[in-house]
Amino acid sequence: MDTKKNSWLMLSLLFLGLSVNNHLSLGADTISANEYITAHQTIVSANGNFVLGFFKPGNASKYYIGIWNSMSKFPTQQTIVWVANRDNAVFDRSSSVLRISDGNLVLLFNDIQIPVWSTNLNSTTSSHVEAVLLDEGNLVLRDGSTSSKYLWQSFDHPTHTWLPGSKLGFNKITNENQRLISWKNEEDPAPGLFSLELQPNTSSYIILWNRSIQYWTSGAWDGKIFSLVPEMRANYIYNFSYVNNTNESYFTYSLYNPSIISRFVMDVSGQIKQLAWLNTTNQWNLFWSQPKTQCEVSPFCGAFGSCNGKSLPSCSCLRGFVQKSQSDWSLSDFSGGCMRRTALQCENTSLTNRQPDRFFPMPSMALSVQPQSVGVGNAAECESICLNNCSCTAYAYEINHCSIWVGDLLNLQQLTGDDPNGRTLYLKLAASEFPSKKNYKWIIVGAVVGSVAGVAVLRVAVLLGLLVAVILRRRNRAVGTGEIVEGSLVAFGYRDLRNATKNFSDKLGGGGFGSVFKGTLSDSTLIAVKKLESISQGEKQFRAEVRTIGTVNHVNLIRLRGFCSQGTRKLLVYEYMSNGSLESHLFHEKFLDWKTRYQIAIGTARGLAYLHEKCRECIIHCDIKPENILLDAYLCPKVADFGLAKLVGREFSRVLTTMRGTRGYLAPEWISGMPITAKADVYSYGMMLFEFVSGRRNSEAYTDGKTNFFPTGAASLIAEGGDVLSLLDPRLEGNADIEELTSVCKVACWCIQDDDTNRPPMGQVVQMLEGVLDVNLAPIPNSLQVLFADNQEHIDFYTESQSSQSS
Ligand SMILES: *[C@@H]1O[C@H](CO)[C@@H](O)[C@H](O)[C@H]1NC(C)=O
Ligand SMILES: *[C@@H]1O[C@H](CO)[C@@H](O)[C@H](O)[C@H]1NC(C)=O
Ligand SMILES: *[C@@H]1O[C@H](CO)[C@@H](O)[C@H](O)[C@H]1NC(C)=O
Ligand SMILES: *[C@@H]1O[C@H](CO)[C@@H](O)[C@H](O)[C@H]1NC(C)=O
Ligand SMILES: *[C@@H]1O[C@H](CO)[C@@H](O)[C@H](O)[C@H]1NC(C)=O
Ligand SMILES: *[C@@H]1O[C@H](CO)[C@@H](O)[C@H](O)[C@H]1NC(C)=O
Ligand SMILES: *[C@@H]1O[C@H](CO)[C@@H](O)[C@H](O)[C@H]1NC(C)=O
Ligand SMILES: *[C@@H]1O[C@H](CO)[C@@H](O)[C@H](O)[C@H]1NC(C)=O
Ligand SMILES: *[C@@H]1O[C@H](CO)[C@@H](O)[C@H](O)[C@H]1NC(C)=O
Ligand SMILES: *[C@@H]1O[C@H](CO)[C@@H](O)[C@H](O)[C@H]1NC(C)=O
Ligand SMILES: *[C@@H]1O[C@H](CO)[C@@H](O)[C@H](O)[C@H]1NC(C)=O
Ligand SMILES: *[C@@H]1O[C@H](CO)[C@@H](O)[C@H](O)[C@H]1NC(C)=O
Repeated sequence: MDTKKNSWLMLSLLFLGLSVNNHLSLGADTISANEYITAHQTIVSANGNFVLGFFKPGNASKYYIGIWNSMSKFPTQQTIVWVANRDNAVFDRSSSVLRISDGNLVLLFNDIQIPVWSTNLNSTTSSHVEAVLLDEGNLVLRDGSTSSKYLWQSFDHPTHTWLPGSKLGFNKITNENQRLISWKNEEDPAPGLFSLELQPNTSSYIILWNRSIQYWTSGAWDGKIFSLVPEMRANYIYNFSYVNNTNESYFTYSLYNPSIISRFVMDVSGQIKQLAWLNTTNQWNLFWSQPKTQCEVSPFCGAFGSCNGKSLPSCSCLRGFVQKSQSDWSLSDFSGGCMRRTALQCENTSLTNRQPDRFFPMPSMALSVQPQSVGVGNAAECESICLNNCSCTAYAYEINHCSIWVGDLLNLQQLTGDDPNGRTLYLKLAASEFPSKKNYKWIIVGAVVGSVAGVAVLRVAVLLGLLVAVILRRRNRAVGTGEIVEGSLVAFGYRDLRNATKNFSDKLGGGGFGSVFKGTLSDSTLIAVKKLESISQGEKQFRAEVRTIGTVNHVNLIRLRGFCSQGTRKLLVYEYMSNGSLESHLFHEKFLDWKTRYQIAIGTARGLAYLHEKCRECIIHCDIKPENILLDAYLCPKVADFGLAKLVGREFSRVLTTMRGTRGYLAPEWISGMPITAKADVYSYGMMLFEFVSGRRNSEAYTDGKTNFFPTGAASLIAEGGDVLSLLDPRLEGNADIEELTSVCKVACWCIQDDDTNRPPMGQVVQMLEGVLDVNLAPIPNSLQVLFADNQEHIDFYTESQSSQSS
């Protein structure tokens, strides 16, 4: 609208409004022509789910008009779903007013005559225009309460959230794309770098960095799913539909079960996230995200940053570099990247007497940005080319192949040592970034001298140590150091565990709860030490939970030997399992014969049955997967990590769903908001049984081009009475007991039904696998066949294997 011409009018309307008009009545859902909201006032949708008003996203005094989920229904956090003035904050909400003016909804601040924000419609003469917050979270402007036509609606102007019922697409008349744009950082709703939009010519969604560089695509819509999002096949939650006509093309979605509350968000992490409200835990549960891993978002960590999918935060600066903006980094905005701590010698000719720049080797790095290739014969030449060109920042050399990188290093990723994609990158740094050789010598000399002088001291220490050890043994009759708390549970000191694990140097694996390290107690018993992360419990509760876990004693459950709880340091000490996890035996080069698989299946079921039915307090594991089944020296299975769900408490579902590699085993009730019972473990166990049969992840795509979801195929084959041997892991070459194989398949089908009341309790599973209970009592459930009839695609929920104790 012509704001200049109208500014005087608006100003007078504003003051007129303040002095004459009514405040809104509490709980109203409408701002009518002569009303306004200011300060703490809000309007609330008729069903009470959504609220519109001023909010403040961070500590700074910056206010925005937004729509959020009602705090009375979603008590744990204010979830903003729409922001009006994303890039124009007001600094004091008491002197700000949201009102109807000249047929528009406008936000006015102080005596500034231009609206901070406006719906920007050409002025209408109607005096009935009103703004209403509808039940779906849509703020609409309409001409009188009887009008069904919207002059404007917030659903046409999404910010970072896509709510059910709204469109996200392309307007062919105006050539405008509706985009979901991430916040700049966690406390600033201004448009950030990541955006999701529809590419109309391909009917696919794409995610862009800085509106230009594409790093993810959904693939084309085939009428049912996006081609690169095959897990939509198993989607019984969202009803997507595509509209393409002369005026527009867009997608919209609804929930089959309207009581599920869900939203899509373009997150500051650069990932599109699908969240559902779990009323059992009162929090948003992450159900799905793309790209799947943080490090696939590029360039997420900025120049000279390195992304590590296994650490939080994922970004760190390379050696010799520091964060450009510490405050941005603390708000999860890493885009600024890192800068050199010390300028290169080649950059500064005034430093002629300085040592030449050098190269720092960084092993196991992945680089997704193509380097320049240089044809040279050997590593020394490659290094020399990079050294002699000041804009070269790094090089890598592999057999007859020299690559150099010029300018900012982007998209670096730190991989684990055993990742075959890892390469050694040589990073150019100023010589002063390296420890000087002189100092090295001194340390070595010092160490030698010290150790010679130390021999005498050492003898005394050893004697004293023995004495102390004897005393401790008398007191505790325990192998480690520390008090015995209950039964055989030992409270270890942090220092003892640090020593036992040689400074946590031998990592066995890492899962969602924390990393596991191998250790040796002073009596040379081997232990596995789990360093817990994100424990939200207090000391007393932690000890109580640990005690509960400690009393659980079954041959198929891993035994807790002790724990450590010193301040924020929380560790659990387990018996050590020499054969690692089932994951490494099932899916990798080592493979197990059928008899062993069958015994492991029964043992695991017995362990779970004990947890569910025979413990003093029933324990739901919540995270059954091959990584959590450990094998002792005799390949006897032991379920690990039980009880941790309770230990981690509220944080658990977040941990669970952000853990890569888990979602393929998650029962549907994790998203539907139904209470989680022991039957959730039964579901995961059933999913795992299929993997015993096939010897591969259910999610894996088959190399022969077929992408059947294995459980689907198996279920229909069993139902039709087909040849079960055709399901068997080809590595076993048909060597399996057909009866056992059939039992396993039938039990698995029985376990993975949608409706948890139809799944058997673990005790019955054991009986069936033992042959005590007739497996034919478990017919292939119809519901499963129906569910899977439509789901002929594999589920690609998890991509990366994780281990509890195996590496
Ligand atoms: C905001 O304030 C809280 C409490 O005063 C503080 O803990 C937090 O660090 C502050 N955040 C920022 C980004 O300053
Ligand atoms: C608003 O009105 C002006 C002229 O009055 C016209 O040029 C413009 O196209 C109109 N805008 C819209 C969105 O209708
Ligand atoms: C779709 O349009 C984009 C530009 O908007 C273009 O880069 C791309 O090649 C087009 N794809 C097809 C299949 O036409
Ligand atoms: C959308 O419809 C137009 C005709 O209105 C057609 O030309 C175009 O190919 C369609 N696009 C897709 C992706 O189906
Ligand atoms: C994003 O692109 C614009 C040009 O379109 C450029 O000016 C800006 O620097 C870019 N932002 C970043 C963070 O690179
Ligand atoms: C799915 O959405 C479409 C379009 O909105 C609707 O016509 C259809 O009835 C919905 N299906 C179900 C099962 O809700
Ligand atoms: C396209 O827009 C025109 C003008 O608003 C309208 O008359 C027509 O019905 C629309 N077509 C479709 C398919 O929605
Ligand atoms: C949680 O949601 C489920 C399903 O929507 C519903 O049956 C149940 O009553 C809800 N529980 C609470 C405490 O709101
Ligand atoms: C070069 O080094 C000198 C001395 O350290 C410093 O004062 C100067 O700013 C540097 N120049 C550049 C371009 O970095
Ligand atoms: C450094 O290498 C880049 C890329 O190969 C090249 O464009 C540039 O001219 C080189 N600079 C010098 C000084 O050789
Ligand atoms: C440290 O561990 C070693 C075995 O790895 C043991 O011999 C030694 O006594 C321990 N030292 C202390 C101080 O506990
Ligand atoms: C253990 O690691 C810390 C830091 O990683 C280091 O300072 C300390 O010297 C190490 N101690 C031993 C005994 O290796």
